[in-house]
Amino acid sequence: MIINKTEFLKSSKSAETCPKTGRPEFAFTGRSNVGKSTLLNMLLGRRKLAKTSSTPGKTKLINHFLINDRWYMVDLPGYGYARTSKKLREEFLSIISGFLLKRPNLSCLFVLIDCRLTPQQIDLTFIEWIGIHRIPFAICFTKSDKISGQKMSANINHYKKELLKKWESLPEIFVTSARNKTGREELLNYIGDILDKTGKV
Ligand code: GTP
Ligand code: MG
Repeated sequence: MIINKTEFLKSSKSAETCPKTGRPEFAFTGRSNVGKSTLLNMLLGRRKLAKTSSTPGKTKLINHFLINDRWYMVDLPGYGYARTSKKLREEFLSIISGFLLKRPNLSCLFVLIDCRLTPQQIDLTFIEWIGIHRIPFAICFTKSDKISGQKMSANINHYKKELLKKWESLPEIFVTSARNKTGREELLNYIGDILDKTGKV
């Protein structure tokens, strides 16, 4: 898929105040600092469209970006950053879950996981939750430029094993690097295929 036009639409505090888009949405979630906003920028070929930071907790609101005048990318806050207050962590989680439960046009949620890490309970619990709520999702293993291919494969295989304890089949899995643009074409094609199938574009 070719990205012709990208436009920031709105930052919203909750699902209730999100734009009523009526169009397919693709959202990005995962732990704070995993690289959600950076991946979104990489996919769109815009370095600074979504705000990024080396300090976790940068994205605090639900951010809608209109793509090619037809569909949306949504940058969500991160979950589970240990060094913020419990209150803020809960606030972010309630923003994320509120959004995920109230968007009938959510075509796919990309759950981002840092490929340098072995399976983390917080991600497994989150993935279980989205499964229970039947939210369509795919997994992106981020920051692949920061680790050897061998270590990354070991971590991803470990994750697959953990997921297969609860799931009959695995979701779609992508490996990305914002630095090397790894995974860009694959992800955009995947989005394009879903858009074709839903027939809304
Ligand atoms: P919050 O909004 O705080 O939840 O974080 P986020 O998940 O949006 O992360 P963000 O995109 O702000 O990136 C966090 C840090 O990781 C930044 O310093 C990015 O430059 C860095 N980063 C993100 N993706 C990559 C990547 O693929 N490779 C490398 N080397 N660094 C990355
Ligand atoms: Mg962010």
